[in-house]
Amino acid sequence: MKICMVGTGYVGLVSGACFADLGNTVWCVDKIQNKIDILNSNKIPIYEPGLDEIVKKNYKAGRLKFTTNLNFAVKNSDLIFICVGTPTSKNGSADLKYVIQAAKEISKNINNFKIIVNKSTVPVSTGDMVENIISKKVKKNMFAVISNPEFLREGEAIRDFRFPDRIVVGANNKRFLNKIKKLYQPLVNKGAVFFSTNRRGAELIKYAANAFLASKIAFMNEVGNLCEKTDVDIEDVALGMGLDKRIGARFLRVGPAYGGSCFPKDTKAITVTGDKFKTNLSIVKSVIKSNNLRKTILTKKAEKILSNKVKNKNIAFLGVTFKANTDDMRGSTSLIMIPSLAKKGAKINYYDPTGSKKEFSKLKNVKYCDTISKTCANTDLIIIHTEWDEFKSLNFTKLTKRKNFKVFDMRNLYSHVDENKKNYKYYSIGR
Ligand code: UGA
Repeated sequence: MKICMVGTGYVGLVSGACFADLGNTVWCVDKIQNKIDILNSNKIPIYEPGLDEIVKKNYKAGRLKFTTNLNFAVKNSDLIFICVGTPTSKNGSADLKYVIQAAKEISKNINNFKIIVNKSTVPVSTGDMVENIISKKVKKNMFAVISNPEFLREGEAIRDFRFPDRIVVGANNKRFLNKIKKLYQPLVNKGAVFFSTNRRGAELIKYAANAFLASKIAFMNEVGNLCEKTDVDIEDVALGMGLDKRIGARFLRVGPAYGGSCFPKDTKAITVTGDKFKTNLSIVKSVIKSNNLRKTILTKKAEKILSNKVKNKNIAFLGVTFKANTDDMRGSTSLIMIPSLAKKGAKINYYDPTGSKKEFSKLKNVKYCDTISKTCANTDLIIIHTEWDEFKSLNFTKLTKRKNFKVFDMRNLYSHVDENKKNYKYYSIGR
């Protein structure tokens, strides 16, 4: 099949490369010349484990192409995916300016029947808007607009693409489903469920899924707070709850506030959509509040571990990204904790497998170290912020020269039973 991905950001690049890997010819289009130049010189502009290999292989095979020439790519494709960003606008809604731009550009290049597939995360009814924009230039029998939301996780995107739980497609006319069903057939053959509904239904599934997952995390974090006061182990509570198939065992892990480029943005956007349609999504609103408060609660907990004497204390942060296997800092709890502790006079070393971060470069008393041992050598408190594999079996006693140091494991990577037998004080979450 001939495919055009409009927007070569995270979703467009990962999906485009994976579609090419399934034997399709894929044009990845972007307005940013520099990004296209990087890709055409065999480099990858984003951090995503495994992507590099797939891009190189399919580029070499001539199935994956990168261009700024949208006109040519649209004209030569049957399926056109809109994969542009929908950042948060001032009022918290999803800013649709890039979707609108893409729709306008596509409409100028419809030379034969095209299926336009919206993969960007967009509020319910955006497909109607895209259809209206295109129909200003093109007759309605020359195109169809369908919705195919993306459920990839950063750091796991290749696996999520290849082995999805489900593929959701929304079309107002079932006739248009066949082509996209054919595209995904290799994944369906391996067990993915192909679920189709109407266009608005698919759009809402994406937001509802993210808002629900975010609620699950915020809920568990609050139950974790209660566990700390009642001498109960949150890990047992999560296991006991998760065994109920109605609840499910995944996404019950406690830790920092949820972050990333999606949950914070999409939870806000769905509440604005709710308000627009005069529906108060009060649960999601309180999830957002709870998640923001989480960052303060954990900062206060770190201060309490230091007996509220933060000034001149050496703190070592292990990991600063919002989760492991990504270099993404968006919505990361470290963005609140590090500046706030540094402001109170703490001297902070941090290490992250993806390198130093511009977000901390101007902060006084905050230093990037390129190894775990340098970070922890002279520390009063080690804070495990992100769950990278390389932090999972450390010998803290060997890592630091101090006698009375403490460890705050914000991801519950270690057994508190074992750690409590060590010569340092160990703190974790919800237990
Ligand atoms: C999320 C969704 O999981 C994807 O399905 C979706 O496609 C994507 O958003 C998107 O809308 O594009 P992502 O943001 O990459 O993916 O990351 P997740 O792995 O879902 O983690 C999000 C946040 O939740 C992280 O801060 C993570 O640490 C936290 N989390 C996750 C927990 O605190 N506990 C858990 O049990 C799971």
